[in-house]
Amino acid sequence: MMDLQRVNAYMSKVEESEKNVLPHEGKRLKTGLDLGTAYIVLVVLDENNQPVACEKRAASVLRDGVVVDYSGACRIVRELKEKLEERLGEELIDCAIAMPAGTESSTRTHQYVAESAGFEVTNIVDEPTAANAIYQISDGVVVDIGGGTTGLAILHDGKVVQIEDEPTGGTHLSLVLAGNYHVSFAEAEAIKQDYARHKEILPVVRPVLEKMATIVRKYVDPSKIDTIYLCGGTTCLTGIEGIFEKVTGIHTVKPANPFLVTPAGIARNCILSEG
Ligand SMILES: Nc1ncnc2c1ncn2[C@@H]1O[C@H](COP(=O)(O)OP(=O)(O)OP(=O)(O)O)[C@@H](O)[C@H]1O
Ligand SMILES: [Mg+2]
Repeated sequence: MMDLQRVNAYMSKVEESEKNVLPHEGKRLKTGLDLGTAYIVLVVLDENNQPVACEKRAASVLRDGVVVDYSGACRIVRELKEKLEERLGEELIDCAIAMPAGTESSTRTHQYVAESAGFEVTNIVDEPTAANAIYQISDGVVVDIGGGTTGLAILHDGKVVQIEDEPTGGTHLSLVLAGNYHVSFAEAEAIKQDYARHKEILPVVRPVLEKMATIVRKYVDPSKIDTIYLCGGTTCLTGIEGIFEKVTGIHTVKPANPFLVTPAGIARNCILSEG
């Protein structure tokens, strides 16, 4: 079972750290870099994994988890790192990065992006496993739906037994909205991120959400898995749990703000180097 109260309290601190540098303990800082299809996020934690600062930027330098604009990615990561260092008044060094399942071959590219910005990459994890550093569940499935893909990690007895990643994400929802409302992609993104319009858009995007739930159903045995734990920006959509429950027959939960769970989990996986 996930301690929803603990996760909500922790994630609201991460959210607050976007605006304010939070008081922190210890000398060393841990950074997590999430190079996403829709957002690039840097989360900074202290030695006790308490949130300190966070910066994010909407960017389209990746497709299906693979970097397609290398110099753009390097530039944005460097700018976000500099912004954080200015806010913190100190340099960030140690950094963890994460990969979606099935993109291990481009691990080195992600590492080069981080290093070009001046980071030392001390750990590389897979994305849904990183998310579970926040959820800390020992049985169930963590599903991370971002801009480009739906990723999942199946956990049994505290161990990740399977990870998967398939190319359906929030971008597809925006394309469907743009088509239905005859608006640009950017306008569709804005409509989708407006909580006041979630009820109105749900019927329009429902088939795509059902597709995402079908991906999860394909990999998950309902006799073994009793809960689906959602995270990722796309799971901000109001009512997504109900659709997942209907398609999979499995109880589905998400925290108050599922957006920054994976980047925060990546930061928790940062190993502090010697010295
Ligand atoms: N309030 C919201 N309601 C609905 N969708 C949202 C909301 N906020 C963000 N999103 C969507 O979430 C997606 C971005 O989520 P996230 O940052 O987790 O993706 P990413 O990590 O960049 O992508 P990926 O993991 O697929 O590489 C975008 O498609 C964005 O439109
Ligand atoms: Mg992501």
